[in-house]
Amino acid sequence: MGALRRGHPKLQALLLLASLTLYLFPSVNQDETTVWTGLRHSATCGRVQPDRSERTVWPFVSVQIVTYNRSAFLIQALQQIAMQDYPGPLEVIVMDDSPRAEEASQFPQELDIRYFHVDRCTIGEKRNMAVAEATRSGAEMICIWDDDDIFTVDRLRQQVSRMVARPASCSSIQVAFVAVLTSGILQRCKGLPLPFENSFCFRRSWLEGRPFSNTSLGEGNVIFEELDDWYAEAQPISGEELPFLYVRTQSSTAPDDALEPYPVKSMLIGGQNPRVDVSLLALARAFRRERFPELPAKALEIARGALRRVMQEDLEKMRKDINSTSQLAPVYWDALNLEKAWAFGGGVPEGSLNHALSAKVDVPEENDVADSDGLIIETDVAMRLIAKALSDF
Ligand SMILES: *[C@@H]1O[C@H](CO)[C@@H](O)[C@H](O)[C@H]1NC(C)=O
Ligand SMILES: *[C@@H]1O[C@H](CO)[C@@H](O)[C@H](O)[C@H]1NC(C)=O
Ligand SMILES: *[C@@H]1O[C@H](CO)[C@@H](O)[C@H](O)[C@H]1NC(C)=O
Repeated sequence: MGALRRGHPKLQALLLLASLTLYLFPSVNQDETTVWTGLRHSATCGRVQPDRSERTVWPFVSVQIVTYNRSAFLIQALQQIAMQDYPGPLEVIVMDDSPRAEEASQFPQELDIRYFHVDRCTIGEKRNMAVAEATRSGAEMICIWDDDDIFTVDRLRQQVSRMVARPASCSSIQVAFVAVLTSGILQRCKGLPLPFENSFCFRRSWLEGRPFSNTSLGEGNVIFEELDDWYAEAQPISGEELPFLYVRTQSSTAPDDALEPYPVKSMLIGGQNPRVDVSLLALARAFRRERFPELPAKALEIARGALRRVMQEDLEKMRKDINSTSQLAPVYWDALNLEKAWAFGGGVPEGSLNHALSAKVDVPEENDVADSDGLIIETDVAMRLIAKALSDF
């Protein structure tokens, strides 16, 4: 049940978005290279006039979880939210229409959780009820958190800071990685880099008067359907910059080809003249920088295991043919380690730029030789560092 509803809405959203073909406006995030210094910077984008007054207060965020009869996933989502590094006020609204109410004693005590056990209803109704509750509590931002996704610990801060800085009505993340629980594999998505509805944050004032439809399928489509440029409004962040794991369970019904996922086998791509897949290395870097929460979650185990295996194999491949990998190894190391991955056009900032809040990074001393000015390090040094990085996984 929860399953059906879990898979379809996303697929539905995806298909809607695809059918609108608004990916023809791909450069919405042109100013992504703007350095985000928390709330101080205003960047002009979208059609809202930026508010140039200095903000020093992080807005009140209401995180919305709608769930049905999957206690373990709900608890895991709550644990993740408790681990978020969001510096401002935060509440969690849980709308649960399961046969039995949850025991509140299982919830993380440090969170401000408002739990509602409601009669059986559609996902859209539950979302609207959660929005009404957020209105009651006076939250400025509303973020959706599906109970079976794994986000990085900086998800809320990254999305909300962008919304405040721009300012934007929405923020979303393009899905890039899928952890499949049933087969234990990690997949990459290719094709259209579209945002999933589970990744959205909204300004509450914008969402009011834009209710979700009373369905359990594509209930969010109606919100964007009538906009002439939904992509600009959605403000998608690339899945490499803000990676998350879309967790597919036995009950997920969205077909694989909706996402065009393919298994992660190596970070070296191409036959004769291999290149480094910097997008995939961005996920490994996120793990290395401890941006994913410390949770005993199967999806994290799958992703970590897959990355460790391919890094080991890549390293062996590179060792076998040092000559042809003299360029590969330094690039590999850079993409795996450097905050500013020069390989992405323009050096997109990744992770936190608020260093006081950023996830811990354990960079070995040898990294002195590979500073962020893009100095290319020696092949053998790079190989040694990659081998060392493997121990972090
Ligand atoms: C709820 O979940 C339990 C445990 O997974 C299962 O046994 C039960 O059949 C489910 N109930 C409904 C109404 O789906
Ligand atoms: C949603 O639809 C169901 C029937 O499909 C109906 O019973 C319910 O009242 C509707 N809810 C709202 C808020 O319109
Ligand atoms: C690697 O390059 C060196 C120097 O150019 C050369 O002497 C050596 O034969 C090459 N090795 C292989 C396996 O191609």
